[in-house]
Amino acid sequence: MSYVIPITAIQDTTKNDIELEPELSLFVKSSDWPEVIQNLFFSFLYSNVEHASKLNILFSNTDYLNQCVPLIAYSEIIESFIIIYSDKTQEPPEPGEPGSVLSYFRSYGYDENVLCSDCYGQLSCSSCSIEIHNGVPENSSPREEEYDMLDIDNERPGTPYSRLSCQTIVGKSPLILTIRKPNS
Ligand code: FES
Repeated sequence: MSYVIPITAIQDTTKNDIELEPELSLFVKSSDWPEVIQNLFFSFLYSNVEHASKLNILFSNTDYLNQCVPLIAYSEIIESFIIIYSDKTQEPPEPGEPGSVLSYFRSYGYDENVLCSDCYGQLSCSSCSIEIHNGVPENSSPREEEYDMLDIDNERPGTPYSRLSCQTIVGKSPLILTIRKPNS
């Protein structure tokens, strides 16, 4: 399952329909998302019992992460949150490394308009770059070849958070991501 939540659809609300598990709150608060994005996400959760409950369950019992790992992304391009409840029992084989962030995005229906992949995961572009703002992928450090590619895009130069989504493998940790838009 996956969902797109445009930020324009999020009410700036103090309404608190549900309490968040401390693990979930801390994961968002300790992320490197800007505060304004964190607050928008909290506003969304506080007024959306369905997602808050799902995420509460996943964050409060790590056994569930063997089956489902949440990928929580903010896309600057479509100005929306994207939540993918990734099925870890059926890892998608491609594009890129099996079980990569990009492969999950494709298998849940997100195309080039959301996350580019100019070379189809062949490690010869940097169009699929993302920023990881909390959580640890299975391969927590980029290989040298990935590291080299992160610097080739002048419109979206790499940052300390940058990874190529086709090379970054989803492990057992939830991830908070940002899909940046090019500078120009
Ligand atoms: S799609 Fe080209 S490096 Fe990832």
